[in-house]
Amino acid sequence: MIPSVLPTYSRAPLSFVKGEGSWLIEADGRRFLDLGSGIAVNALGHAHPALVAALSEQANALWHTSNLYQIPNQQALADKLVEHSFADTVFFTNSGTESCELAVKMARKYWYEKGQTDRTDILTFDGAFHGRSSAGIAAAGSEKMVKGFGPILPGFVHLPWADLDAVRTALGDTTAAVLIEPVQGEGGIRTLPDSFLKDLRALCDETGTLLILDEVQCGIGRTGRLFAHEWAGITPDIMMVAKGIGGGFPLGAVLATEAAAAGMTVGTHGSTYGGNPLGCAVGCAVIDIVMAPGFLDGVNRKAGLLRQKLEGLVAAHPEIFEAVRGQGLMLGLKCKVAAADLVKAGYDNLVITVPAADNVIRMLPPLTITEEDISEAVARLEATATQVAAA
Ligand SMILES: Cc1ncc(COP(=O)(O)O)c(C=O)c1O
Repeated sequence: MIPSVLPTYSRAPLSFVKGEGSWLIEADGRRFLDLGSGIAVNALGHAHPALVAALSEQANALWHTSNLYQIPNQQALADKLVEHSFADTVFFTNSGTESCELAVKMARKYWYEKGQTDRTDILTFDGAFHGRSSAGIAAAGSEKMVKGFGPILPGFVHLPWADLDAVRTALGDTTAAVLIEPVQGEGGIRTLPDSFLKDLRALCDETGTLLILDEVQCGIGRTGRLFAHEWAGITPDIMMVAKGIGGGFPLGAVLATEAAAAGMTVGTHGSTYGGNPLGCAVGCAVIDIVMAPGFLDGVNRKAGLLRQKLEGLVAAHPEIFEAVRGQGLMLGLKCKVAAADLVKAGYDNLVITVPAADNVIRMLPPLTITEEDISEAVARLEATATQVAAA
């Protein structure tokens, strides 16, 4: 008999009842160090007092009105995102997948309005993950994502990851946009070199192609800058955001330049819940904290510490680990043994990591993790590696 919850997930036998900062607690009191943050969602940890206060205050005032009316804290959050980014305008969604949908629509509408109705193709890359909607799976293109779900949304051209020559060859009269993650998350914590992003931006400029960055997982301070592309000194035309921006409340956004968003006029897009008062109250609090003086410096300092300790772990267990990869507090351990076995053994040692493609375990701790908790987390990973090595 089919379970009452559609069985699309392979769940660990863990069930948490409480979260405190970087810790997740089970009903029996067992405390796990959370290096997963609900897959990069709880950017400020669990039950951050400022987020709890923002959500509770809004919940006591007003939950929902719809986008038929003005939503003051949606306006406030859009203003903050515009102030701190390349963007001139923001549309709020509830998830990364919805951000992907709009980013694709926006790019195609841009060319439609210019009368170049053939420019509909979106170039995407191996290992990409942009969500599970029809556009999201078509963008990823892998057999694992699309098999059985045809007909697949047309207009996506799949290229080898970080291959500039392939982009150069593929760019043509029918290309609307290039869509890429500055750091692939699901794909195995693969960081694009800054030089690639710079060259990609230049190629897009030469051909008028729109550059869409998917910062759903790597954005909102995760790499040590508000947005990962800032490290390369470039800006996109359109950017997808979700996960960390809501700190655990479902919230996403598409940020765009005025030019890229030109086609998105009244009636062309909408969302019942997108930009609702509850999500935007939390989003405002998240941005205020991440952009407070010193916060990102702290993320970079802690990222350096975690990376250094992970390098030590790899050196101590060459039979288990191959290398550390990633940027900021978005780090991966490329494994020599099955990554899934390490994640599982981590549960025995009360440390949470997240598996990714390419046999990598991901570490996406709360940006608020303390140095003490970093040391404790690596000690638990050390015990995990020892356990797996002995098995
Ligand atoms: C880079 C990236 N894009 C898009 C998505 C889809 O986001 P959501 O699961 O919120 O729909 C994800 C989710 O993991 C992601 O990592």
